[in-house]
Amino acid sequence: MGLVRRVVGPGPAVHALWGAATPSSPLTPAEARVIASAVPARRREFTAGRTCARAALEELGYHDWSLLPGPRREPLWPDGVVGSISHCPGLAVAVAARSADTLAIGIDVETDAPLPANVVRSVMDTDEAQATERLAAQDPVTPWGRLLFSAKETVYKAWYPLRHEWLGFEEAGVELNTDGTFLAHIRRADTAPLPRVVSGRWARGNGVVITALVLPAG
Ligand SMILES: CC(C)(COP(=O)(O)OP(=O)(O)OC[C@H]1O[C@@H](n2cnc3c(N)ncnc32)[C@H](O)[C@@H]1OP(=O)(O)O)[C@@H](O)C(=O)NCCC(=O)NCCS
Repeated sequence: MGLVRRVVGPGPAVHALWGAATPSSPLTPAEARVIASAVPARRREFTAGRTCARAALEELGYHDWSLLPGPRREPLWPDGVVGSISHCPGLAVAVAARSADTLAIGIDVETDAPLPANVVRSVMDTDEAQATERLAAQDPVTPWGRLLFSAKETVYKAWYPLRHEWLGFEEAGVELNTDGTFLAHIRRADTAPLPRVVSGRWARGNGVVITALVLPAG
C-alpha cells in the first residue's frame, strides 16, 4: 500500500504525484486564469495539486470540474464532495470523498526535516513542547515538531471548509503517538459539526512526512 493511502485509510479517492514531474496542461481555463500571474514555482505546485484533485474527482464521477479557490484559498469542491490538497517539494497530493460518507478531510505533506526554532515557538504550547521532547528522547530521528505542525495544518484544512473561520495554532492541542496516530483537541466551546476531539494518522518516508484526518459523516 502506498504511503499516502496508508495515512488516509480506505475509502476516499487519493492521488499523489511524486518527484518533480509536472503535467503539461492539466488546468481548466478558469483555473489557469487564477494562477496566471503567480511565480513559476507557485504555478507548478498549484498545477500538481489540481492534477491530483482532478484525478480524485474523476474517480468520484466528476469530469472537467474547475476547482477554483475560495476567499481563503480553500478549494471549492463540487456540492456533495469534500476534499483536501497539499504539496511540498517532491510531492503533491489530493484526497476527495462524497460528503454522504465523509464529513471532513484534511491532509498535509511536509519535508521530513526539523521545524525551524522560530516556527516551533509559534505553533506549540508548553505541554506540546514537553511531549515533543519526550518523543524525541525515544525516537530522535522522527521530526516530531514538524509532525505536530503538520497535524495542526491538517486539522485546519478539515475545519475551515465547514466553519469558514480561522483556527489558531493554540486552538488545537495535538497529541502525537508513536504508533502513527494523533489526537487533536479543538479548544472551542462550539466545534460543530466537527467533534471536539478528532483523530488522524501520520507517516514518514521518501523524504516527507504526511498527516491526514478523515472524519466519517453521520
Ligand atoms: C492554509 C494552510 C493550512 C496551507 O498549508 P501549507 O503548508 O502552507 O501548504 P500546503 O501545500 O500543505 O496546502 C496548501 C493547500 O491547502 C489548501 N488550502 C488553503 N487554504 C485552505 C483553507 N482555508 N481551507 C482548506 N484548505 C485550504 C489549498 O488547496 C492549498 O493549495 P492550493 O493553493 O495550491 O490549492 C496554511 O498556509 C495556513 O494558513 N495555516 C495557518 C492556519 C493553521 O494551520 N492553523 C492551525 C490550527 S489547528
